Amino acid sequence: MGDTSGHRPGEVAIPLPGSFDAGLYFIGRIRTPWATRSACPKNGRQTEATCTLDVDAPFAEGLQNVEGASHLIVLYWMDEAARDLVLQRPRHAEGSRGTFSLRSPARPNPIALSVVELLDRDGASLRVRGLDCRDGTPLLDIKPYYATTDSRPDATIDRAGTRGGDSPA
Ligand SMILES: C[S@@+](CC[C@H](N)C(=O)[O-])C[C@H]1O[C@@H](n2cnc3c(N)ncnc32)[C@H](O)[C@@H]1O
Repeated sequence: MGDTSGHRPGEVAIPLPGSFDAGLYFIGRIRTPWATRSACPKNGRQTEATCTLDVDAPFAEGLQNVEGASHLIVLYWMDEAARDLVLQRPRHAEGSRGTFSLRSPARPNPIALSVVELLDRDGASLRVRGLDCRDGTPLLDIKPYYATTDSRPDATIDRAGTRGGDSPA
């Protein structure tokens, strides 16, 4: 009989804890051209599309001075993602990989991040370039991107995952 869980072969789901450790506030919504997950680009560097961060009124004053940054770090909540997967099998990958070695939206806390270019601001709306999420995705936070501290040009990825620790299954 086939797997009816919706998981790919090699994927492992865990029972999640019965309660949350913290709460959070959605500070707004992200408007994008993509109506579904499957229509989204894989990451924000794959598109030139302009998207909008619509910040809700109670938080809008927090946008003061934001135009000083050419680029922003945007954190958002992947509201359609599975939360129980600890091993995942990315499409087209040979085997499964640990959730924390992936940028997949499926994770215990489905928080996504992108570094975006800030195009302009209209009141409580920021027009940006560099996002990859479905239209209406909840917005969690906005921070200035500092090339001096956030950019690590020496960073590498060993896809085999053999830079210490366990190899992927
Ligand atoms: C691979 S994730 C990367 C997200 C972010 N750039 C990061 O690195 O944390 C981007 C993918 O998430 C999926 N996605 C987009 N919006 C989503 C949502 N609201 N809930 C769940 N998945 C979403 C789409 O398939 C999209 O291609």
